[in-house]
Amino acid sequence: MAAPAKTAAPKTAAPKKAAAPAAKKAPAKAAATNTGKGAGTNAAVDIQPILNQQNHAPAPTQRYGTVSQRLPIGLDEQTRQSSVTMLNQLLADTITLRDMYKKHHWQVVGPTFYQLHLLFDKHYEEQAVLVDAIAERIQILGGVAVAMAHDVAELSSIPRVPRDREEAPVQVSRLLDAHQRLLKNCHDYADKADERGDDGTNDLIVSQLIRTNEMQVWFVSEHVVDSPLIQAE
Ligand SMILES: [Fe+2]
Repeated sequence: MAAPAKTAAPKTAAPKKAAAPAAKKAPAKAAATNTGKGAGTNAAVDIQPILNQQNHAPAPTQRYGTVSQRLPIGLDEQTRQSSVTMLNQLLADTITLRDMYKKHHWQVVGPTFYQLHLLFDKHYEEQAVLVDAIAERIQILGGVAVAMAHDVAELSSIPRVPRDREEAPVQVSRLLDAHQRLLKNCHDYADKADERGDDGTNDLIVSQLIRTNEMQVWFVSEHVVDSPLIQAE
């Protein structure tokens, strides 16, 4: 108990000793930083405001389709808005393609069942990674990522897939068509992101989306065959 008493005394005593010289300097210091009412009257307080702060916090609910400038990533609002619009289109189409793969993984039948069952699920997992990368890029840009199935269905450019179970060649055909639609948009959007200087979005589209989708097209295309694998007698 003795130790705190010893250290407490100098702390409280210090302002009294320094009071006389500090009183001469403090008004000038305070006047430079405090222009409000009562400036210079609180000279002993050495707390200064942090200057140049601005409140960019988003509203409690951020509307879909808007972008905030909350994150300092060196991109202007028009560029962010443009990229977010493009990325939400790619997101809706990628979510749709991802779910097509799972549907076909479950429903595939026939002599190539095992291969396609595994391949479709592998591609589903890879598309799920892309979905997350696109959605998080949208949030980084200050936008709002489309997420729910009903919103995705409205936005997607991929034709609606029927609930019915379709034959493997039809599944393959649908997947290749969806990939091609998505890839055409990717090439267009990558150019636009590059023109605006949004290198991160350009890189995401080229390095992840285009590369992954092209690879998947290759693997799925090899299952397009003219002749049946089994000839029934
Ligand atoms: Fe499964």
